[in-house]
Amino acid sequence: MFSGIPLFPEQASTLAPRVDNLYFFIVAVTAFFAIAVTVVVIIFAVKYRTDDPLAVGERIHGSIPLELAWSIIPFIISIVIFAWASDVFFDLVRPPDQTLEIYATGKRWMWKFQHIDGQNEINELHVPIGRDVKVTFTSEDVLHSLFFPAFRTKADAIPGRYSSVWFKPTKLGEYHLFCAEYCGTRHSGMVGKVVVMEPAAYQAWLTGGVVGGSLSKRGEQLFNDLSCNTCHRNDGSGRGPSLVNKFGAPQELTDGTTVTVDESYVRESILTPQLKVAAGFNPLMPTFQGLLSEESVRALIEYVKTLKAPAGSASAAAQENR
Ligand code: CUA
Repeated sequence: MFSGIPLFPEQASTLAPRVDNLYFFIVAVTAFFAIAVTVVVIIFAVKYRTDDPLAVGERIHGSIPLELAWSIIPFIISIVIFAWASDVFFDLVRPPDQTLEIYATGKRWMWKFQHIDGQNEINELHVPIGRDVKVTFTSEDVLHSLFFPAFRTKADAIPGRYSSVWFKPTKLGEYHLFCAEYCGTRHSGMVGKVVVMEPAAYQAWLTGGVVGGSLSKRGEQLFNDLSCNTCHRNDGSGRGPSLVNKFGAPQELTDGTTVTVDESYVRESILTPQLKVAAGFNPLMPTFQGLLSEESVRALIEYVKTLKAPAGSASAAAQENR
């Protein structure tokens, strides 16, 4: 619809038309009132003009219907914008359940993308058409912001925590991706492209040139190499909690509060383990701050995600009883 106007990027995701429709509604409402006020000012200036320098205007004692109208009409318009925008916003920030997970890191001055199957790419992101894709990312240095104009989604990359965006590409092709937060001299060069491919072509691309196996496999290797497995035993007999079935579940802490075990909590527990200690355990775990790259941390997180006891098995039952 707007492809003739170069001001607007292509609509290449399910969210794009929804964001645009809201945007154009707000522009239309604003334009309508701006034009209406201007026209009325001009008409009245002409109609009520006088050459008499001593002319005095008629006294006005207010008008209840008029005042009600200019209060209620803007109120209704604002509420419509608020409700509509909330609807779009909730869809924007809540990824669907089954998404294709991709990790990314922003650093001066590039975006590094990492697929679960082990593919890495820099300033380029390949995604399949028609799939819900979630990109989870952080920054290695300063604030950046990952922006996909054609998908109408954007979020800041913040050092020390994970952000995420999700989108469902609806159009094949290559689109821009940007850093949308000023981050230093080469901020303007921190750009790249996202390539939307047919699912079959994406699979072929994904399997071509994988080194080192999948992310969770690398995580498992690290988990053993770093001796995490000596404390975090799967049967729960170690000095640290068993990590089986932990991901996505609530975790009670020594201070009585409860957190959900998500990517950020696992990352924090690896880098600053003393901060939120699982209830029933001593703060024995050493920090791995400075010892692990962001990629390695993510490999460990992916490995923790795969630790699932088969339902009804002995270790699952032991887990339930803890
Ligand atoms: Cu990174 Cu601007």
